[in-house]
Amino acid sequence: MDKIELLSALADEIRVCPLCRLADTRTLAVPGEGNPQAQIMFVGEGPGEQEDQTGRPFVGRSGKLLTQELVKIGIRREQIFITNIVKCRPPGNRDPLGDEIVACNDWLSAQIALIEPKFIVPVGGPSLKTLVSPKLGIMKARSKVYRKDGILFIPILHPAAALRSPTTMQQFLEDLANLKDFLNRDIEDNEITPIEEPKAAPASAKDEEDGGTLSLF
Ligand code: URA
Repeated sequence: MDKIELLSALADEIRVCPLCRLADTRTLAVPGEGNPQAQIMFVGEGPGEQEDQTGRPFVGRSGKLLTQELVKIGIRREQIFITNIVKCRPPGNRDPLGDEIVACNDWLSAQIALIEPKFIVPVGGPSLKTLVSPKLGIMKARSKVYRKDGILFIPILHPAAALRSPTTMQQFLEDLANLKDFLNRDIEDNEITPIEEPKAAPASAKDEEDGGTLSLF
């Protein structure tokens, strides 16, 4: 099977996925769509109402805003692959829960492994935390560049947040202008923000008794 067939077979599996409670309330799962050869992947949070009804990502109000603003920076939907960290709508558009994100993670990892994008754009905080580091917040990380597993991550604010506040709309448009700039030139190593690793689990009392590896800090 070639890449296109593998991605399509993956999407068929996602459409019948039973792995978390979101399967009980979804209308349609939303695997994601776009160019299997895409250099850029956009990864949002989860399907909303329109996405749940149609089975397609980013087609509701915020999706239309994102699509329209991408065209203005020279990116058409046909060029990219666009998906979400969870493939089924959380009821009432609540944030996806940790166990739902974990249950869905193998689908996203398989899509990334097949597409092999050069860039991933996490759209909004939950996607950033899932893909780059749980320690990062979107307000600080937006418009910066991170590198993980050889992929460059450029997080942007979520268009749904932009629709709720004129200030956030301004920042969302700034993020897209910065994204355009990054995509159209070489990114130097010194522009890449290091990722702070989550702290190692504290040594247990047992370790201490054993004279084991207790950190001094
Ligand atoms: N918001 C998202 O994060 N993803 C969608 O697909 C639609 C809205």
